Amino acid sequence: MYSIDQQYIFKNSTAVFLQIEAVQTEEEANELRNLLRFLEHSYYIDAEQIITDQEYDLLFKKLQDWETQHPENIPADSPTQRIASALSKDFPKKEHLVPMLSLSNSYNAEDLRDWDKRNREASGLEVIEYCAEPKFDGASLSLVYENNQLLTATTRGDGVVGDEITTNAKTIKSIPLSANFGKFNIATAEIRGEVMMNKKNFAAYNKLQEEEGLSLLANPRNAAAGSLRMKDSAAVGRRNLEAFIYNVSFEREGNETAQEQRKQTHYGTMQMLQQLGFKTPLNDMKLLSGIEAVINFIDEFETKRDELPYEIDGMVIKVNDLQLQDNLGMTSHHPRWAMAYKYKARQAESVLLEVEYQVGRTGAVTPVAKIQPTQVGGVTVSSISIHNEDYIKEKDLRLGDHIIIERSGDVIPQIVRSVAEKRTGAEKEIEFLKQCPVCNHDLHRPEGEAVWRCININCEAQVLERIIHFVSKDAMDIKSFGEANVRKFYAMGIVKNIPSIYNLTAGDFAGTEGFGEKSITNLLTAIEQSKQQPLHRLIYALGIRYVGETTAKTLAQEVKDIFELANFSEERLLGIDDVGVKVAKSIREFFEDEANVALLQELKNIGVQTTKQESAVVEGEQRFTGKTFLFTGTLSQLKRSDAEEAVEAQGAKILSGVSSKLSYLVVGADAGSKLEKAKKLTGITILSEEEFMEMMGG
Ligand code: IVH
Repeated sequence: MYSIDQQYIFKNSTAVFLQIEAVQTEEEANELRNLLRFLEHSYYIDAEQIITDQEYDLLFKKLQDWETQHPENIPADSPTQRIASALSKDFPKKEHLVPMLSLSNSYNAEDLRDWDKRNREASGLEVIEYCAEPKFDGASLSLVYENNQLLTATTRGDGVVGDEITTNAKTIKSIPLSANFGKFNIATAEIRGEVMMNKKNFAAYNKLQEEEGLSLLANPRNAAAGSLRMKDSAAVGRRNLEAFIYNVSFEREGNETAQEQRKQTHYGTMQMLQQLGFKTPLNDMKLLSGIEAVINFIDEFETKRDELPYEIDGMVIKVNDLQLQDNLGMTSHHPRWAMAYKYKARQAESVLLEVEYQVGRTGAVTPVAKIQPTQVGGVTVSSISIHNEDYIKEKDLRLGDHIIIERSGDVIPQIVRSVAEKRTGAEKEIEFLKQCPVCNHDLHRPEGEAVWRCININCEAQVLERIIHFVSKDAMDIKSFGEANVRKFYAMGIVKNIPSIYNLTAGDFAGTEGFGEKSITNLLTAIEQSKQQPLHRLIYALGIRYVGETTAKTLAQEVKDIFELANFSEERLLGIDDVGVKVAKSIREFFEDEANVALLQELKNIGVQTTKQESAVVEGEQRFTGKTFLFTGTLSQLKRSDAEEAVEAQGAKILSGVSSKLSYLVVGADAGSKLEKAKKLTGITILSEEEFMEMMGG
């Protein structure tokens, strides 16, 4: 939606707005609004981060400051208007302009061939062009834009009338508050899409909830649907939802002449919406001639299902030509021009055999159900986390129960329910442990929390988990020191605690299976290199409760030396953006424990960097400054993440998709659609892995 020129201008004005003290005129405020919209679009639609979160917040605050002083001029689509008040409300009912129909379902190739046959007979065409796209597994939503402004957002409801949840929808950053439909001479548009919580956000959300002993969301679909109906819009905003728009259900012409025409096809409509700033299925969608091509594509796509960032439960196939769609029409329940193809259900029945308990880094004891190994969605599942004591009670789980399990994408398998009808009376209640399964210390369950904890910080399980966290990829990133190796070295007794990692010598590994000279050298080099990791990684690696990667980065910005943090009072900590009471308390507790300060001192003595290094990267021009890279297909000599790091270190940015902004596409074996797309665009240099290696000087 933004041209290369515009992007260039926005990038320049980012620097300007970051520097100025405050916004001075309404004109500047408008410029800043446009800039923030551009940054949101880059981040939420193009998945490209141009400035840091802190810088974004700074710009945002400058606009907010101006608007507080000039409240009379705040436009409804100002980026600040996504911030909603926490007022409680009952949702008003709103009738859809056009009823929200459902789709007919198909489950196999024959169903699709029958449907295609009916379409061909009705149209008299020999071959029909179809679009196949993901069937998003979220909550459907209908948006009305009038004169380019978002007017209302409504849930499906009963298909005719839904809940109007506009304020909640406005917190979803991929829903533009205004969109230039006028350009296509559309005065009123009702568009449809699906609100989703992607797998990563879902897992992160539940992890946090679990750590805090709060209730969990069942699956990403419920997460999206439930979020939309929350009373507290600000809380909706924190859930990081996104929306994909896949249909225009109604449009009314304006009185202007259109500056641009769209192709009267489904594909053309998606291109228009994408251009207007919406997230659409375009990236994962294909235009296909005839039903056999459709069948091949959806088979192929099923294998990619787990790799998608969000949940799908099938594909939707749509007749591409809008005129033909009209001619085919609809029944009272569903359009004849569209068909859902459902992928196989990922539920199965199993038996709950026993419960084991795992002790985490913070001492939280998590019960894990051991189940009769069962195939679900192509994977054999034999154990499932059952989270905490309350969860077991809520689901009324008993040993020996028949249970329904579900696996969706790479989301961890869940127990849906126990099958009470199959109980024989021999099932046994699950009694939650009262002592730590590892160190036997009494467990504690703080009031208001759902989690039982082992509070012995020397508990071996916790020590081990802390080491695993310390070396992990997002923390100190000690390569080839994965979880399995930490466990092995801990069992061997050569790694006892975090500092002992740095005392390892080649001799320690003598005779260890799988550790030849080369891998030992690699591991020791990686350990040595990790001493130079930036300060925020060390802070994160310490595993302070509630201090995730983002908070660690914020903290690192506040100090030159990690020991300064030890002296920060709770008030001082609370003064830092994003640090709330819980986090501040936890940081204080960490540093008040002398053992933790001693650990840091020991690390410092060993040579681990505890001060902030001025960025090793020289400011200014580097070899790939302003260039972008994307790696696709299987690389044979390189790990993708290493290759990405190598070019980033030289100033390049990594893109997630092929677009005209891409400078280099590096292709490994079996490269697919990205390569095809890149070939069609000009200005992209396509490199084989060998050519890339050569360019990087081997
Ligand atoms: S098109 C009139 N496209 O699935 C046709 N729907 O089970 C409008 N859905 O009601 C629907 N992904 O809520 C369409 N790519 C997609 C979709 C999709 C998910 C939902 C939608 C629909 C339901 C039917």
